[in-house]
This record gives sequence, C-alpha cells and structure tokens, in this order.
Amino acid sequence: MSIRTITTSPFADQRPGTSGLRKRTALFSAPRYLENFVQALFDVAALPVGSTLVVGGDGRFFNREAIDTIIRMAAANGVSRVISGRGGLLSTPAASHLIRQGAQGGMILSASHNPGGPDGDFGLKYNSANGGPAPESFTNAVADRAGALTSYRLADLAPFDLDAIGVQVLDVDGVGPFALEVVDPVAAYATLMESLFDFAAMRALFAGGFRMTFDAMHAITGPYAHDILEGRLGAPAGTVINGVPLTDFGGGHPDPNLTYAHELVEQLFGADAPDFGAASDGDGDRNMILGRHFFVTPSDSLAVLAANATMVPGYARGLAGVARSMPTSAAVDVVADALGVPCFETPTGWKFFGNLLDAGRITLCGEESFGTGSDHVREKDGLWAVLFWINIIAVRGQSVETIVHEHWARYGRNYYTRYDYEGVPSEAANSVMAHLRAQLATLPGTALAGRTVRAADDFAYRDPVDGSTSAKQGLRVLFTDGARMIFRLSGTGTEGATIRVYIESRETNPARLNLPVAEALHDLVTTALTVSDLEARTGRTSPTVIT
Ligand code: G1P
Ligand code: ZN
Repeated sequence: MSIRTITTSPFADQRPGTSGLRKRTALFSAPRYLENFVQALFDVAALPVGSTLVVGGDGRFFNREAIDTIIRMAAANGVSRVISGRGGLLSTPAASHLIRQGAQGGMILSASHNPGGPDGDFGLKYNSANGGPAPESFTNAVADRAGALTSYRLADLAPFDLDAIGVQVLDVDGVGPFALEVVDPVAAYATLMESLFDFAAMRALFAGGFRMTFDAMHAITGPYAHDILEGRLGAPAGTVINGVPLTDFGGGHPDPNLTYAHELVEQLFGADAPDFGAASDGDGDRNMILGRHFFVTPSDSLAVLAANATMVPGYARGLAGVARSMPTSAAVDVVADALGVPCFETPTGWKFFGNLLDAGRITLCGEESFGTGSDHVREKDGLWAVLFWINIIAVRGQSVETIVHEHWARYGRNYYTRYDYEGVPSEAANSVMAHLRAQLATLPGTALAGRTVRAADDFAYRDPVDGSTSAKQGLRVLFTDGARMIFRLSGTGTEGATIRVYIESRETNPARLNLPVAEALHDLVTTALTVSDLEARTGRTSPTVIT
C-alpha cells in the first residue's frame, strides 16, 4: 500500500490548551482539520523510524473515524506499530500505562468531561514516552507547525479490524511492514491495579456486605469498573451504573461532580444509601468520592490518601513528596508537613506534575477539579482513586464520613468551594481579570472579610526539575490566616470563557469543624465577588456550577 502526500492549508487556531486540542466535534471532523493537527504532532514529535504509538479514546462520537485516520497517518510517518484498545477504546490512565510499557508516544482522543456527540466536543492530546501529556514547549511548537503546514502524509493501508484482538500486519510500500496491535483495553490496567492494592482485603470487604455504587456516566470507565469492581473484587452485579460507553454519553455531561453525577448523588444522599459512591468522567481520569450522605471534596480526598498511603501495598514504603495544583486547597500541605515530605504547588493542568513524578520527587498529586493520581502512570486516574479509597476503608473498617472527620480533627479542615461562571463573553471575562490584576499591588496589608491580606499575585511557576517557567497561572489573594481567594480563566472550554473563583479558609478550632461550607465561606465569597466586580462586569448574578 502506498503513501500519499496530500496538500492542505494551515489552520491558525490549533493551539492546544490545558489538556490538548479541544474543539467542537463539527470542526474536528471537518475536512483536513484532524489530519492537519496530527501531521503537526508527528512533525514536532519526530519519532524515530520503527516507533510504537498508542492510540485510543473514550469512545465519543468520531472516536473510531479519528483513530482510523491516525493509524493511516502513523504508518505514513515512520511509526511501525500502533497499539489500540478494542473498538478504539482506552481510558486516559490506561493509555498512559500502555505508553509507559514501551511506546514512544501516544495520542488520546477525548474532550474529557465535555459532552460528546455531533453537537458536543472532541479532543486530541499527545502524550510523550513517559506516558504524560507533552510539555508546553511541545504544544506551542505544534501550534506553530499546524499554522504553517502545506501537506500531510497518509498510507493507503489494506482494510484492518479495530475490533479483533491480536496483531494485524499491513504492508506499506517503501517502508515495510506496519503492525496494528489491538489489545483488551482493561487487561494491562487491571494488572497494574492488582499490583498496587490489596485485592484480597477489598474482596473480603465486599464479601462482608459493603455496598457501593460506581457511576460510569455512560463513558469509558464502564468496562474497567465492571471488570475490576464486579469481576475481580466480587462487588454485586448492579454496583456499576451507566456502565456501557455511549458515543454521546447518553446525552449527559460526563463530569463527576455534584451537579452532573446527579443519579449517583441522589442514591448516596437518599434513603437506604450504599456505604460508598464514586463516579468518573468521559475519559476516566477524574473521580468523585461520596460516603453515605457525605461528599468528600477532591482537595480533602488527596489529603486523606496521602495521610493513609502506607496502608496500601503500593505505597507502603511511604511518599517521596506530594504536589497539588495552585487552586487546590492546602489540606495536603498540612499532611506533607506532618509526614516531613515536600509539597509542591504547580499551575493547573496535569502536565505540570510530570517532571516531579519522573524525577521521583513526588508520589501522589492532585487537583481540586476531581483529579488524583500517583507515580503509577502520568495522568490522573479516576478508578485508581476509587480503589485507593476502598483499600483504606477495608483496612480501617470505618465509614467515609468517620475517616474524613478524624482527618479534620487531626490535621484541621480547609473549607473549600469553587464557583464556575461558564460561557461568559471573552471581553467580560478579561475585564474581570484586568480589574483584579490592577488591584494586586494595593491589596497586601488591607483588611478584607475580617482578615488581613498577606500577599496578592499573578501565580508564576518555575519547574524545580527543568527550570522552565509558566507565567499568569491565576490571580491569588492570600490571607495571613491561611485563607485564599483565587481567580483564573479556564483553559479547557470551547465556548466563550469560563471564570473560576476558588475560595478557601483554614479551621483548626474543634468546635468549628462541621459548619456548612457555604456558611464557613460566606464572607470570603461575598468579598471575592465585590473585589472582582464580577457580577457587574459579566451580568451574572449566580455561578453555573458551585462545587
Ligand atoms: C480543568 C481543571 C484542571 C484540569 C483540566 C483537565 O482545567 O480546572 O484542574 O487539569 O480541566 O481535566 P481548566 O478548565 O480549569 O483550565
Ligand atoms: Zn478527563
């Protein structure tokens, strides 16, 4: 089969954001759009001839067609083996694991928690040989290349079957054999989970009557959760709900939060609630953890995992260090301090954890946006976090609520909330940020919300491993008592701008550990809205989502 060079004209707007290139499906599937971006990726990646590439996605609309094209382009760009999951399915963490087992890179097709379907979103992210999202220097080079391309390469391969497990060898003229290896999407990942967690103790927990509901939200984790929870761990059939991946996620918004995972939330807060509830997102890297009538904020979840890590076989030797994204609450900082290990504060986006993980400086890391992970892969990992919690529950023999209450009693509580204003016109969002930025220098020392501002800045990060710097990562107002107000614009939206406001306060008074979050943070929230002039500048009187 021959290789064709097809003329194209550049696309100027193919600049990857927080997690790859995300656009409307209609745009992504338009003629030459995907091809142009993929060729730019191959050009910048400059994979050595004979390389192996992992390609898979969350099964959303256009997944299969995109993989079909990528396979043909890979064959034409010197890749000699593509590994994909059956049906083109791979969760993001499972893809990361497969890459780490010996591939030179990977392309993950997903728009994560954004809705899918012809009217939804699509996305493509390039991961490097370490299994993690490519760094900013790479994605910037890709954007430049995509804006300058005049042709792309495609191999006219013989027909292949993405549903047949095994190796299919296809011939490419002048290049030699090209192999497509289709694997069970779950197998290698499940083996990795068995190497980290005490499956015997967790099986015993379920055998003893422990009840949980896992909401796969009609997305990629369905097959993984069926295999691991109901199969290997013996949880009763029906534990996994919405467990069949659908191309449009059943018309839902596959984001595991209190708003979108409402079926799960109703169960866990209803009568006869199970002991434990969890959900994951479109591509399987996010997680939400619920106890009976109890919500665990992702920031607290990270802190609890860190504090209890040595109960889990894969982390029994302790943690090298931990990291959290800047807007994530400082709950894990307190645990790191108690453990005597370093805690790093990085910009939003999983890619910033990569160097720290590769250098062995951290073992666990997480974000407030329902992302938690460790050095086992280079992506956040939804099901891994769920298994970590089940393992801790199996060892401690306590409810989620008791575990968290004991955590607060010992380490103090970081009250936390996030307000999202979605679909704001860009000019309005920029004006809010500019208004805040102009005040930063004047805030330190002033009294706000009954507290004193200690510092205010535009968060900038210097990577401790490679020295690279990232500026303008969010505006921070830090108080002397540990409270914080943070404002940033989302880098993952596809329509207008999303303003995120993150509010946190720190409480160690035992009598004040169980206040309603809205009450504990009321003054700070009001102050944040006043200082930013957000409501007047956006015309929004309430956020789209409160977490
Ligand atoms: C959001 C989250 C961020 C996460 C990213 C990808 O990005 O805030 O923590 O890494 O999705 O899942 P944002 O839209 O805020 O740029
Ligand atoms: Zn995701």
